[in-house]
Formats: sequence, C-alpha cells, structure tokens
Amino acid sequence: MKPLEIVKGIYWVGAVDWNLRDFHGYATPQGSTYNAYLILDEKVTLIDTVKKEFADQLLSNVSQIIDPKKIDYVISNHTEMDHSGSLPRVMHKIGEDKPLYCSKVGQKNLSLHFQEKWNYQPVENGGVLNLGKKTLTFLETRMLHWPDSMFSYMKEEHLLFSSDAFGQHYAGPERFDDQVGEAIIPHARKYFANILLLYAPLVLQLVEKVSQVGLEIKTICPDHGIIWRQDPTKIINAYVEWSRQKPKKKAVVIYDTMWQSTQKLAEAIVDGLCQLGVEAKPMHLRASHRSDVITEILDAGAVIVGSPTLNNGLFPTVMDFLTYLKGLKPSKKIAAAFGSYGWSGEAVKLINQELEEMKFDLIDPGLRVQFVPDPQKIEAAIQLGQKIGQALQNL
Ligand code: FEO
Repeated sequence: MKPLEIVKGIYWVGAVDWNLRDFHGYATPQGSTYNAYLILDEKVTLIDTVKKEFADQLLSNVSQIIDPKKIDYVISNHTEMDHSGSLPRVMHKIGEDKPLYCSKVGQKNLSLHFQEKWNYQPVENGGVLNLGKKTLTFLETRMLHWPDSMFSYMKEEHLLFSSDAFGQHYAGPERFDDQVGEAIIPHARKYFANILLLYAPLVLQLVEKVSQVGLEIKTICPDHGIIWRQDPTKIINAYVEWSRQKPKKKAVVIYDTMWQSTQKLAEAIVDGLCQLGVEAKPMHLRASHRSDVITEILDAGAVIVGSPTLNNGLFPTVMDFLTYLKGLKPSKKIAAAFGSYGWSGEAVKLINQELEEMKFDLIDPGLRVQFVPDPQKIEAAIQLGQKIGQALQNL
C-alpha cells in the first residue's frame, strides 16, 4: 500500500498485513495494518514502525516521500513488536545515533527487546518535543496496552497518535473512517474486547483526564486499522460505553460437548432464555473462536458455561476459554454452569470455581446431568434458562 498524506506534511507510511489470521490468540479473519506516520517539518519525524517482516514496505513508503536518512527523530509510542519490530532496520538505515523518543518504561523495554545502545531520549508525561513549526506532546497511557505505552499529540493539527488505542485489526484498501462507515465498528469493538477490556477502568480515567484538560482532537491516528478523521468522537464515545460494561438483557451460552448431551442442555437453556424474550446466543467452542465469544460477552448480562467432564476435569476448549476470559476481566455478569458427565462429574464445580474467581454473580449451583439428559433434565435446563432470563429482566 502506497504512502498517503493525512493532513499537510503528515503521511501514513505503514503496512497492510492482508494474511494475518491470528494475533497472539485473537482471530483476525480480515488481517490487520501496522500504522506508522511520517511528519515533514524542520525535524523529520517517524512515529512508530511496523512488524519486522514489513520493514521493507515501511522504508519503501518513506523513500517515496523523502530519503530515510533525512529522518531526524523516531518516536516509539509502544514497545510491542508489531510496532517496534522494524526499529533495528530503521535505526540502521537512518543512523544509530538519531534520537529515539519513548517513555521511561519504553526505554527499558526496548533495551530488553533489542539489546541496542540507541540514543534513547525518555520523555515525561506532558513533555513537549519541538519539530519546527509543529510540536508533539507526550501523554503517558500506561497499560493501554503495555506499561510503556504513550500517546503523542500534535496540538497544531489537533491530531492524536494513539498507539494501540482506538485501533482495529482490519486490512482493507481504506485508510479513513469515512471510507468504511459503520462497518468498521464491529472490528473496533472486537479489538477493544480482546485487547483493552481488562484496562477498561484506565480507559475511563484517561477519557476523563483528556476531557478535563480540554484536549481538542480532530483526528485520531491509531497504530492499527483506519484513521478516525470524520468523527473521532464516535470511537471515543464507543470506548466509554464499552468500558462501562453496562449489561444488556443478553445471555451468551458457551459450551463444548462430547456426545451432544451438554449441547442438548445448552440448547434447552437457550430455549428458556428465549421464552422470556432475552437475547440468547449459543456458542460452541469448536465453532466459535474465543476472541469472537469475548466480543459477544462484552455487553451481555449473563455468561453461562457448559462442559462435559473429561478425565476428571474440564473439556480442554472450555478451560482454554475460561483462562482467556479470566485474563480479560469482564465485570457485571451473572453466571451459571452446566454439563454432562459419565461417573465423576467435576466439570460444573470447576466452572463455578472459575466464575467465582472472576467475581461473577453465580445465580444457581449449576446443572449436572449423568450421561444423556432425559425430558426432566431438559425441562430443568429450560428452567435454568428462565431463571437467568428472569434475573436479566430485573437488571
Ligand atoms: Fe499493536 Fe500492543 O501492540
């Protein structure tokens, strides 16, 4: 993808990764982009790089605008290697002594990644770098996404280089929100649910802080996906809504099954929920990727998890899912467990333990069925669905 001028003198020079299908455990069926930005001013400045496999593309994009050796400053807003992986190639090309601006934690983390003695220039929160006619103000945004993360804000253009925040794993010919329209929101939502959900309280604090200082933002340039230039408030407001995790009258029934007994229970629970008019979504863990399940859970009021007992434990996909879910720390959920078993039947107890650790509100001891559910057990599953549906109606 060729470089593109975003506003006068500021270019997108990143790379589109059309073939990415997995981003550390997150399914990316539509690929991603690694956005890097070049600012032409008295000091030519590169903001972030790309995954190392795309270093040639980055350097080629820069070369179409200016000789890369004329880059004076490099800014690293975030150490993760989808943005820093090409730093060794870039620094080698432009000169290893060129100043590399990053947060203090960024300096430490970049050193641990690359073992290079680059000319690090650690910046403070609120620090300002003069580029000539324009300036960059650095804002520490620890844990959005890593402890090293920061934003760079150009007040002259009201432009925020937001690193991972406000991004989407989406590869397409478009570079801007107005070119994609509403179709980009599900990608941004999935990205939030899988990358930033556990930091939701920090997102709310950050938005509060930004509104208190009256930071005017006309354009948001994230490090993944499209640039928000038509309506940056749309994604900011969406982040506030997603971070608040206000539960909807919606239940996600997540399960795996060996001989369809747990599946029959799942479907009966869904029937019970639907009878009360609750939006219910069954998700079989070998038909739905964990990253799509967590996206559905984002606004759900209830999480219901089912597993057969296998070798005295949980079915592996269910344990995988619970581990992933626990790490992302969703909140404000009611929950219940169910599952079939042959003789020992530990699955429901084990799921309950996990759900309690997540501080979900367990509203039932759980439904256990030996071997194959008979009509009474199917009725019990319908009633469990109704009980959860009733609790959702009372939210
Ligand atoms: Fe896109 Fe945290 O890296």
